[in-house]
Amino acid sequence: MANWVKVHPLVVRITHWINVLAVLMMVTSGWQIYNASPLFQSFTFPESVTLGGWLAGAIQWHFAAMWLLALNGLVYVTYGIVSGHFRRKFLPISPGAVLRDISNALRGRLAHEDLSVYNAAQRAAYLVLILALVLLIATGLAIWKPVQLQALAALMGGYEGARFLHFFAMSLVVFIVVVHVVMVALVPRTFPTMITGRLRRSS
Ligand code: HEM
Repeated sequence: MANWVKVHPLVVRITHWINVLAVLMMVTSGWQIYNASPLFQSFTFPESVTLGGWLAGAIQWHFAAMWLLALNGLVYVTYGIVSGHFRRKFLPISPGAVLRDISNALRGRLAHEDLSVYNAAQRAAYLVLILALVLLIATGLAIWKPVQLQALAALMGGYEGARFLHFFAMSLVVFIVVVHVVMVALVPRTFPTMITGRLRRSS
């Protein structure tokens, strides 16, 4: 007999897909803004993967998507803390378990029997991803208003320091998202659960 198990709550599913759209717009418009004044002189992003057409267009996309990212993120994080979702899904976590699961994943030996429970590598990846997004928003605010938010900018080594940290946090987010999407492609059964929220389990 088949029975259905609830895997992802509705709030998590809605905020996840809004977040995918917001991150995509933020990253690609951010690359266009970067190209107008590159941090690393010899490196620019190919025009074909940027959004906005030119500096002013990209800034408009970046600021519009910023509200979506920040407000949607606020809903997700508030829900995650208040409902106990973060505690249930991401904890407990230990460095030993994370290293063991990463090593198992690299050797193709990670078990995926129960998709309603994240393994330690997933827990670590999602937690670092959420923290990197918070760092992206905080460094973005410092770059946006370096005079009004002097204290925040000073914490990051001033305007230039905030720019480097913003780029570093973007790179970390892009790296984890690429690994995340590859993992979803390797275990495609996880994909429909992030849409329907349910998993069919035969017993
Ligand atoms: C097309 C791109 C993406 C696809 C197909 C995708 C798919 C998925 C799937 C299927 C899960 C559930 C994994 C499981 O049950 O084992 C998941 C969870 C998650 N994804 Fe994505 N994802 C994408 C992009 C992103 C992006 C851009 C971010 C953030 C920057 C992100 C952050 C997360 C987080 C934090 C979770 C855990 C959610 C929770 O349980 O609270 N994903 N994703």
